[in-house]
Amino acid sequence: MGKAGGTEDQAQTESGTPFARVYSAGDLAGFDPATALGAPGEFPFTRGPYASMYTTRPWTMRQYAGFGTAAESNARYLELIAHGTTGLSVAFDLPTQMGYDSDSPRVAGEVGKVGVAIDSIEDMRVLFAGIPLGEVSTSMTINAPAAVLLLLYQLVAEEQGVDPATLTGTIQNDVLKEYIARGTYIYPPAASLRLVSDTFAYCREHLPRWNTISISGYHMAEAGATPAQEIAFTLANGIAYVEAALAAGLAVDEFAPRLSFFFVSRTTLLEEVAKFRAARRIWARVMRDRFGARSAKSQALRFHTQTAGVQLTAQQPEVNLVRVAVQALAAVLGGTQSLHTNSFDEAIALPTQKSARLALRTQQVLAYETDVTKTVDPFAGSYVVESLTDDVEAAALDLMDQVAERGGAVAAIEQGFQKSEIERSAYDVARQIDDGSRVVVGVNRFTLDADEPYEPLRVDPAIERAQADRLARLRAERDPGAVGTALAELTATAAGPGNVLVPLKAALAARATVGEVCDALRTVWGTYTPTDAF
Ligand code: 3HC
Repeated sequence: MGKAGGTEDQAQTESGTPFARVYSAGDLAGFDPATALGAPGEFPFTRGPYASMYTTRPWTMRQYAGFGTAAESNARYLELIAHGTTGLSVAFDLPTQMGYDSDSPRVAGEVGKVGVAIDSIEDMRVLFAGIPLGEVSTSMTINAPAAVLLLLYQLVAEEQGVDPATLTGTIQNDVLKEYIARGTYIYPPAASLRLVSDTFAYCREHLPRWNTISISGYHMAEAGATPAQEIAFTLANGIAYVEAALAAGLAVDEFAPRLSFFFVSRTTLLEEVAKFRAARRIWARVMRDRFGARSAKSQALRFHTQTAGVQLTAQQPEVNLVRVAVQALAAVLGGTQSLHTNSFDEAIALPTQKSARLALRTQQVLAYETDVTKTVDPFAGSYVVESLTDDVEAAALDLMDQVAERGGAVAAIEQGFQKSEIERSAYDVARQIDDGSRVVVGVNRFTLDADEPYEPLRVDPAIERAQADRLARLRAERDPGAVGTALAELTATAAGPGNVLVPLKAALAARATVGEVCDALRTVWGTYTPTDAF
C-alpha cells in the first residue's frame, strides 16, 4: 500500500518514502483491519497495548529531571509531584553514568552537571527523601551501571519498608544504543549483555513488576536517525537483547513482558503517529513468530516518548512551546504509555522551575482539555496514516534485514553500520537547513535581529567539592573490611558464571561506592574502546 515511486516535485517523508498530495480509498486497497490493526489491546497491537488506552488511564506524565546534588534533585521531584507529575524520571550526571565517583580525577567539571551526582546509598536516600517508593514508578536513565542504581533504589525502598515485589519503574539499561549514539558505555558488548541478562534474571526473581530495560531509539533519532531508522535499529537492538536472554537460559514469556521502549516524537506529526503504530506491529510479529512468545504482554510493545530535543531552538525560545505541544500531541495520538515534554529553554540551559512546570502543563492540557483521550487510536482507518504506517513499516523491515545480513545488531555495531547510516541522515538534514529547503522557524526563516535577554539556570560548581567531602566522610565511617570482602566477592562472581547482582547488592549495602563497584567489574571485564570504522 502507499505510494511507490512518485514524481520529481512530490514531497517525501522523513523516512524517505513518497508523501502523496492526496490519499484516498485506493491507497487502502487490500487493507484488512483485522490483520493490519487488530482491536486495541490485541495482536498485532497496532492500535495500542491496552484495550481501553487513555479512556481509562491517561499516559504517565514522566518529566526527566535531575541536576546538582541529591538534595537539589529531590526538591525538584517534590515540586513536580506537587504540580501533578504522575511518574518520576531520574537524570544522572555523567560521572554516575560512566561508573566513576564524584572525586575521580577523570570527571572534574562534570559532577552534577547534566544530572544528579549519585555516589552511594547515602546519596540515594537523600534523592528519594519524602517520596514513598511504594506509591510511585521511577524511571532511571542509566545504562552501563544500571544494575548498580537499580539495587541502590531497591535498598532504599526496602529501608522504607516497601516490598520489592511491588516496586515499579524502569532502568534504561540499553547499552547497545550507547555504542551507536550517546556514548555512556563502560564494558565491552559481551560483558554488557551478560550484565543485562543477569539483571533480567534478578528482576524476574526479586523485582517482578520492574521494567528491566528501555530499549531506546530516542538518542539515535536525536543523532539524526530517520523515523524508519529509529524503529529499525531500536527493534534490532531489542532482538539482540531477547537473543542474549534466551542464550542465558531465560524463557521468553518470563522476561519479555518487562521489556519496554523509548522513542522520540518530532514535529512531523503524521509520520510520527505512523512510526509508533508500525513499531508496535513489527515487534508483535517478531515476538510471536520469531521467538514464539505466547503472552500478550510479551508481544505488546509499550513505550515512553520524549519530545525532540534537537528541534528546540535557542532563537526565539518561546516558539519551542508550540513545537513541544505538537510533538506531545503526536506521541499521544501514537499511543505512548509515558511522556516527557521538553522545556522551551532547554536549547539554552537546564530547565528553570517555571519552564519545567510549563512543560508539564502542556501534557495536562492535552490530557484534560482536549478530546484525544476520549477514544482509542483515532487515526485508525485514515487513508494517510494507514498508508504511512505501511510505508514506515516497510522501510524499517528493510533496514532490519540489512542489520541481520551483517550478523545482527552487535556485529553491525562493531562494523559501524548503524552509526554511519545515521550520520548520513544527519548530514542530509543539516544540508537542508543550510540551503533553506528545510525551514526552522526563527533560525533560517522568520528570524529576529536580536533575541530578548534570558537568564538560564546554572549548576553551582562548588557542588563538586561538597560531593568529594561526602565521599571522604562515607569512606571514613564505613567498615573497610566489609567493603573489601564484598568487592572481592563481586570480582570473583564476575569472573565466573554467577549472577553478579547478588554480590553487587551486598557491596552497595556495605556502602561501597558506585565507582568502586564499577571498578571491581572493570578489573574483570575491561572497558570498551570503539572501532574507528569510518
Ligand atoms: N488498561 C489496563 N491497564 C493499564 C492501562 C489501560 N488502559 N494503562 C495502564 N495500565 C497498567 C499497565 O499495565 C501497568 O501495569 P503493570 O505495572 O502491572 O504492568 C500500569 O498500569 C502502568 O502503566 P504503564 O506500564 O503503561 O505505564 P508506566 O508509565 O508505568 O510505564 C513504560 C511506561 C514505557 C512501560 C515504562 O518503561 C516507563 O515508564 N519508561 C520510562 C522511560 C523514561 O522515562 N526514560 C527517560 C529517558 S531520558 C534519556 O534517555 C536522556 C535524555 O537525554 C533523552
